[in-house]
Amino acid sequence: MAVEMTMQEYIHKRPEKDSFELTMFIYEAALMQMKSRVEVLNNELNHVYSYNPIEYVKYRLKTPESIIKKLRKNGHNIGVDDMVEHISDIAGIRITCSFFSEVYFLADMIARQDNLKVLSIKDYISRPKESGYMSYHMILLLPVALADAVVPTKVELQIRTMAMDFWASLEHKIYYKYEGNAPGYFGRELQECASIISKLDTKMMSLNEAMKKADGVKKGTY
Ligand code: GTP
Ligand code: MG
Repeated sequence: MAVEMTMQEYIHKRPEKDSFELTMFIYEAALMQMKSRVEVLNNELNHVYSYNPIEYVKYRLKTPESIIKKLRKNGHNIGVDDMVEHISDIAGIRITCSFFSEVYFLADMIARQDNLKVLSIKDYISRPKESGYMSYHMILLLPVALADAVVPTKVELQIRTMAMDFWASLEHKIYYKYEGNAPGYFGRELQECASIISKLDTKMMSLNEAMKKADGVKKGTY
């Protein structure tokens, strides 16, 4: 049976290999595994429950440049040990759904999966960031099965509605364009947009609930 070992143990056992490449290969494996779990969950919900909560899924590996930038910014050493220890979003996946009730539903379905550990949760939906940012974040630990080892590996999962995603994309563009120094009114306008989006999400969800209820009454199942 393959033994469980940390990423650092796995890498240090192979000094002849480039440690950064080895690390990224394992994060990529963890990301592929998470993507596949989300696809299987989506298919199961579609086929078994005729339920389609997921609109789209995006995923990415952090680039070496942005790994280095983040390590520098947070005062860490530029190296594999600090990167594995301190950066949780090297492998990142984002699920976008229609309604915010679905965000919590999906988060719960994933958290209850076998062979996966939830290391931390940040619920920026019930408590949005000051900027107005809303999203549900989880840091997950997935076992990556290799030839002679199992390496638990972190993946960041973000779950949000389409409206929250729309907001976050624009805010991200503005932030990058002005390198964090956008004129003050951008911030205020974005906060206002976030509050409109939050109202929109609530209204759309109520409409959807009302529709489901009417549907249930018609079928005699409600
Ligand atoms: P980072 O160092 O930015 O990764 O943040 P963190 O480690 O404090 O974690 P957090 O959960 O706050 O943020 C993780 C990720 O969420 C970020 O890398 C972004 O992708 C996204 N995010 C967080 N805050 C904002 C925000 O204000 N605007 C946008 N557009 N995205 C955000
Ligand atoms: Mg990040």
